[in-house]
Amino acid sequence: MKILVIGGGGREHALTWKIVQSSKAKEIFVAPGNAGTAKIAQNINFNATDIDGLLKFARTKNIDMVVVGPEGPLSQGIVDKFQAASIPIFGPNKLAAEIESSKVFSKNLMQKYGIPCAKSVSFSNYVEAKKYLETQHPPVVIKADGLAAGKGVVVARTIDEAMAALNDFMDKRTLGAAGNKIIVEEFLDGKEISTFAFTDGNTIVPMVPACDYKTVFEGGRGPNTGGMGSYSPSYFYTPALAKTIQDTIMAPTVKALDKEGRPYKSVLYGGLMVDNNQPKVLEFNARFGDPETEVILPRLKTDLVEIMLAVINNRLFDLKIEWSDNPCVGVVMASGGYPGTYKTGLPINGLNRLANDITVFHAGTKLDASGKVVTSGGRVLVVTASGKSIAEAREKVYNNISLINFEGCHYRKDIALIKED
Ligand code: AMP
Ligand code: GLY
Repeated sequence: MKILVIGGGGREHALTWKIVQSSKAKEIFVAPGNAGTAKIAQNINFNATDIDGLLKFARTKNIDMVVVGPEGPLSQGIVDKFQAASIPIFGPNKLAAEIESSKVFSKNLMQKYGIPCAKSVSFSNYVEAKKYLETQHPPVVIKADGLAAGKGVVVARTIDEAMAALNDFMDKRTLGAAGNKIIVEEFLDGKEISTFAFTDGNTIVPMVPACDYKTVFEGGRGPNTGGMGSYSPSYFYTPALAKTIQDTIMAPTVKALDKEGRPYKSVLYGGLMVDNNQPKVLEFNARFGDPETEVILPRLKTDLVEIMLAVINNRLFDLKIEWSDNPCVGVVMASGGYPGTYKTGLPINGLNRLANDITVFHAGTKLDASGKVVTSGGRVLVVTASGKSIAEAREKVYNNISLINFEGCHYRKDIALIKED
């Protein structure tokens, strides 16, 4: 098969890495890809949201299957356009992807169908939102409705902080149209977990879960990022919790979307807070997580292309999906200054010094004119390893990560450091 992967981050490197291992895959293209995907597939110079350009490319090359990584093209209806052109594509269509691209839609759906989530009220009027906030007690969470690349959620410790976020989103319009509507949400305490399921709209198959580390510094300090590391499985994931998540969240959500005339296919990502073994939804995403994919796919034993074809062709019920018991840990190396401004084009050294059992997924990297790997984004690399235990995998990663170097690079030292409570 000729397969086109859309996106250029660590998630897409991991997807490409897994697809390359399929006996079904013959030629693989990545748009736009990075220095990591360039080594195992062919990068093509298209932006992930250049839907018309990508469609033309896919037609000319007779692409057999398209895999969409990021939310941007999904929210713009890439799946609908490829389906209309009869090109098989793995992803939810535009209406189904609103589970991620509109937090107000997603909240309304959860409330209507009794899917456990944080209590919230939505507003499209700044003055009304302010008035409501004056009646609330901190901490409180302010969320912009639209896609905001991780910048649309503020967990406010004081009402002043919450007011400032409201002001940014709705008055100063720092996120543009993504802040047309906002949600004021109750603060939930507990342990976070990222859960994923493959679904063809009928059958829903849970994947192994992961934990993501959102803040830039150790111990939950500093601003939120796209994710500074992750590990799989979460230490507190039990068969009972898995069943609760499947029965009260994942399955009812897929069914609810179907009832609403928005049948959902591909990967559903539930970002959950678990307190006292009771999971509640913080958000849904319409895609694989990043950096969760980088620790989940190394555990997948089944051919990913087979799974994607089963999803596209509504045959997921026919497939047994198998996972390795070995945990996997991934630590993100970021550019100096990230998640704020940072330099790019910096040479990365040490990638060839690593032990054989380390897999490095590239995120913000590219090849310069001389073919050297240089930085090109905020999150640069995800250094991963598997082991017999979370601790063993973690030790392998941290024994190797310090061998990699670029100017200003930083990473968290506490990824997968489990402090049981
Ligand atoms: P989201 O994009 O909705 O997942 O939010 C980003 C991060 O903000 C989450 O990963 C949580 O750490 C935090 N967060 C979001 N909603 C809540 C909430 N209701 N209570 C506590 N923390 C939250
Ligand atoms: N790791 C968070 C996300 O993919 O949205």
